[in-house]
Amino acid sequence: MILPVYLYGHPILREEAQEVPLDYPSLTEWVSNMFATMYHAEGVGLAAPQVGLSLRLVVIDGDPLAETYPECKGFRRVMINPVILRSSREEVVLEEGCLSLPGIHEKVPRARQIEVEYTDEHGQGCREVVSDFAARIVQHECEHLNGIVFTDNIPAIRRQLTKGKLNNIAKGNSRCRYKTRCAGR
Ligand code: NI
Repeated sequence: MILPVYLYGHPILREEAQEVPLDYPSLTEWVSNMFATMYHAEGVGLAAPQVGLSLRLVVIDGDPLAETYPECKGFRRVMINPVILRSSREEVVLEEGCLSLPGIHEKVPRARQIEVEYTDEHGQGCREVVSDFAARIVQHECEHLNGIVFTDNIPAIRRQLTKGKLNNIAKGNSRCRYKTRCAGR
């Protein structure tokens, strides 16, 4: 089922999401709905708060970016309770966007490489080193679980310049191909 994507300005995007209990009912259904929603909206990552569920759960599929970023090939993950254990000091600045901030694309500095620990969809504990654009996706999605959106990480001058667009999104004045929900409506 395709779910509405909660837009910037909705308070759930600013909450600290809760740990997922391992016996959480309908977790499988949420994961499958999140993938359906993400593919429909043509995103490469989606965090549960973006579909109105304040839990530490993200889905990722970087495959559509494989041509530009080979490290994204086959990078399909369900991350339950992900924790970034360490981040490289080396940073890369690249443009990114977010399904909750339609129409906004800004350059964001991110660690080039991270190590992340999480539980996968089979209940298996995982730990892996992720690099380059794949690492960017993981960092972006994990931030959603802490109430952070990517425009929080851009230089103040750029943030000032996107303020009008962000306000419009919050007011429900943005146009989207996919189903959305915003605070105002
Ligand atoms: Ni996002």
